[in-house]
Amino acid sequence: MMMMMATGQEEKIETPPTFDYSAETAGETMSRRLFMGGMIGVFGAVMAAVAAGPLLSYLWPPKSTAIKIDKLVLGKVAEFPAGTSKNFKFGSIPALFIHSPDGSMHAFNATCSHLGCTVQYQQAKNNIYCACHGGTYDPATGNVVAGPPPEGLHKLLASVEAGEIVIRPEKAGAKA
Ligand code: FES
Repeated sequence: MMMMMATGQEEKIETPPTFDYSAETAGETMSRRLFMGGMIGVFGAVMAAVAAGPLLSYLWPPKSTAIKIDKLVLGKVAEFPAGTSKNFKFGSIPALFIHSPDGSMHAFNATCSHLGCTVQYQQAKNNIYCACHGGTYDPATGNVVAGPPPEGLHKLLASVEAGEIVIRPEKAGAKA
């Protein structure tokens, strides 16, 4: 800018350089927006993963969560006179041991094949009974005798070893 001095000389007055604050503000605003957008994206992804976990495990369930064991000592033979039974856990599955009135011993996976209720031995009727829908099984074979179960009970092996009742899967590695 030029100004006329009293002396008649012109003096050049430098105007201070202007700084474009709007550019920096716009840049800050932009990076803040990007940051917030990124955070929202990360939050959304985490929430989606949390929500998807149960859905995915429902659609593709893990192969098996069963705790498998090879052997269980149920107790001394003297604790189970003929005609008695015991419901117990064989690993993570419900199981049933029966010392039949005729002296034979049997063990089963106690999961009803109908809808999965746990079956019980009925000493008075000498059968295995499911209270949920009246399914009835043979106490020696586990075969269905009456009611809606589509198939018999899976057998376990019951044996006496050194005066104790020992339970094993029917076959090594077989589904108990
Ligand atoms: S669940 Fe056992 S009879 Fe239905």
